[in-house]
Amino acid sequence: MAAQRKMALACGFAASCYLGVSNTFVSPKTAGLRTPSSAKGKQVGNFALQRQMLSDPGEGKMGMLGTCCVAALAAVGASTARKTYNNLGPLRSKVTLAATQDELKQQVGYKAVDDYVKSGTVIGLGTGSTAAFAVERVGQKLKSGELKDIIAIPTSIRTKEQAESLGIPLATLDTHSDLDVAIDGADEVDPALNLVKGGGGALFREKIVEKCAKNFIVIVDESKICDGLGPGFPIPVEIVPFCHEHTMRQIGKLPALEGCEPVLRLGNIANNQPDGTEPAVTDNGNYIVDLKFTEPLKDAVAAAEQLKNTVGVVDHGLFIGMTTACIIAGKDGITVKEP
Ligand code: 5RP
Repeated sequence: MAAQRKMALACGFAASCYLGVSNTFVSPKTAGLRTPSSAKGKQVGNFALQRQMLSDPGEGKMGMLGTCCVAALAAVGASTARKTYNNLGPLRSKVTLAATQDELKQQVGYKAVDDYVKSGTVIGLGTGSTAAFAVERVGQKLKSGELKDIIAIPTSIRTKEQAESLGIPLATLDTHSDLDVAIDGADEVDPALNLVKGGGGALFREKIVEKCAKNFIVIVDESKICDGLGPGFPIPVEIVPFCHEHTMRQIGKLPALEGCEPVLRLGNIANNQPDGTEPAVTDNGNYIVDLKFTEPLKDAVAAAEQLKNTVGVVDHGLFIGMTTACIIAGKDGITVKEP
């Protein structure tokens, strides 16, 4: 692998010399991976994958060196390829590698904090791999002094631990019932910005906290966008362990959930994969039932009401009419949508 890396770097360097250009490192910002924080309701960045260089060697003076470089890039894999590409100077306008899903999550997580979190406010910190980037950003800005006097309410034990490790001052709803803003990810987002949440098993704490926020900012990559809630991601429901099989049967009979298959979550609470034999247990000591659908919910409001009225159900992952704004990162940039 070391030899392959050397070959890639050598080819990158040779290509730069051949083209008579400076061998400048391109930061993510320069390469257009960071976006302005001001624009709202429209696309605000562009990370489109452009492979024109690879298909048009003549225009880029590529020839043999280009072919050699491309082969080397392929050999060392995408992450090294990105670094090697960064050494190709002006060729960057011809090859912009797509942001990874993690990079998209980081963009929306950071943007949400940059745009919506002000000093002296009480904020809700969501749970999941996307929300973790927002928590990280709050920690960074507190450390640098850019943010001051923040009090944060975490929505899970995992988030509490992350926030504590970053020195973010924490409280609970018991002392702070009014939040200025809450930021969280989602598993599905429909055109009205209704959500499915709870893939990570934290839906109850997320809902109780996010209901208390003046502004609830949802952060997702574009894979979470759907036409209708249900078939793309099973809807999680938190239920008490007592007679849970009975409660699951009752849920399966609810008219607004017709056609659903209730599946008890096993193993790791933080995902809905069958990765264990024992029921997964939430931070609140409860179980999760994941409702699998083949068709979109016809009436998500009715489904939410019927679930909430079922004895044994603590809460469900349908977050209806709660979203203030949804920040979406995709291959064409960042979009901010409001209901
Ligand atoms: C946890 C959640 C998460 O917000 C949701 O699962 C999205 O997670 P990720 O950002 O990791 O995709 O509801 O209960």
